[in-house]
Amino acid sequence: MDEKIIIFDTTLRDGEQCPGASLNINEKIEIAKQLAILGVDVIEAGFPISSPGDFEAVRRVAKEVKGPSICGLARAIKKDIDAAYNAVKYSKCPRVHVFLATSKIHMKYKLKKAEDEILKLAVAAVKYAGKRCSDVEFSPEDASRTDREFLYKVVEAVIDAGAKTVNIPDTVGYSTPFEFANIIRGIKENVSNVDRAIISVHCHNDLGLGVANSLAAVLNGARQVECTMNGLGERAGNASLEEIVMTIRTRNDVFRNISMGINTKEIFKTSRLVSKLTGMPVQPNKAIVGANAFAHESGIHQDGVLKERITYEIMKPEDVGVTGTKLVLGKHSGRHAFKERLSNLGYTLKEDQIEKAFGRFKELADKKKEIFDEDLETIVDEEISKIPEALKLEHFYITSGDSIKPSATIKIKFGGKHVESSSSGDGPVDACYKAIDKVIKIGGKLLDYQIKSVTSGKDALGEVSIKIGSKGSVVSGRGASTDIIEASIKAYVNAVNKLLHKK
Ligand code: KIV
Ligand code: ZN
Repeated sequence: MDEKIIIFDTTLRDGEQCPGASLNINEKIEIAKQLAILGVDVIEAGFPISSPGDFEAVRRVAKEVKGPSICGLARAIKKDIDAAYNAVKYSKCPRVHVFLATSKIHMKYKLKKAEDEILKLAVAAVKYAGKRCSDVEFSPEDASRTDREFLYKVVEAVIDAGAKTVNIPDTVGYSTPFEFANIIRGIKENVSNVDRAIISVHCHNDLGLGVANSLAAVLNGARQVECTMNGLGERAGNASLEEIVMTIRTRNDVFRNISMGINTKEIFKTSRLVSKLTGMPVQPNKAIVGANAFAHESGIHQDGVLKERITYEIMKPEDVGVTGTKLVLGKHSGRHAFKERLSNLGYTLKEDQIEKAFGRFKELADKKKEIFDEDLETIVDEEISKIPEALKLEHFYITSGDSIKPSATIKIKFGGKHVESSSSGDGPVDACYKAIDKVIKIGGKLLDYQIKSVTSGKDALGEVSIKIGSKGSVVSGRGASTDIIEASIKAYVNAVNKLLHKK
């Protein structure tokens, strides 16, 4: 029989303590509803005594969000416990979470109290909360830096006082997996009534070990994990929900006979919602939910993934709600991924056309970080609709500004000869076109000129479409480049070649 890990989400409480991540009531409700769809077991919706707004947010979440247990945080003080209970009592399964620091550092400097006093306060608070709410959780704050014997004593006493869950926080993210595993094992082995409560963990990420510490605890008997979406939280954040859930699921050979109620297909959606509403961006290389988590750029990796996905992917993107593996076409990509993308775009090219298009793609990839489908379409359209290149652009130079007359020098290959021509014009494009006209002498007239960006970002590919007319013929030309003057010249050269071909 599987043992269940309770996923306790504290995005709306500890996550919201992340500097700059505050949420209004409606945003909290929207996130809480999505967390319920995700399938978390407990939502810690806030710290009701901390402000009237937080109280109202927890109350509304408790009233409106069905499914998970709704929890409110309280210090070991009667008015906090009353506020927490009054906010969560509308939930079908309300929970009050009481915390009190137990480490020497916190007792001496923050609370200025001795161990005996702390023990009494903890027990009294749990008993008081238990009279109001049937589900009470207790956290000995800074547990990982608490004297071990004292920690056992506190855990035992609060379980006797009625705590159903005892949460062991690594409040300052100081612990390491081996040490934290020992703390949890120590509690399991030394607290006589430990089987009457669920042992929970709550790890911060100051050393980047929040997830590792939580998982080490699970392997040593913790059955509730407190975590946040995207690892949001105080300072460096809390252990990330998506990383914990996907590790337990992906490595079920390590986390044997353990189950969770999470619908992993909702992970990505939840992550994006939390990021959008808190205004906290997700780093692209973030595990599970980062934009690059399922993206491959190098030719070797792309080739491997195309042959067999599991060569370079340990999870299916669809399992976390991501639409699919992304093969990013960039300068490290190879022919296999290039051909595959062309075929997905509906192109069937001959081998020599593919070779030429691949060469063009590599040239562009040196100028641009990512090559989008539109870039490929532009490249391939130019390759397929090829007409003899009687005229070919080799180089161009322009001078332009608001106080000089724009001028251009063009180096072209025309009729097998390398020719250089210069001209001034109304603008740099006009100057380039006039310089070309001096050489080819077809008396063409520019009838239409349009420019559009076919990709996004500052390094976008600009596409120029033009129409030129000459002696009763009208032809169009297209050119694309990250440089709009170059795209304009290419469009003109393309149109001129069509005109010459017609003649
Ligand atoms: O980090 C911590 O110790 C906490 C407690 C309130 C559980 O957030
Ligand atoms: Zn915390």
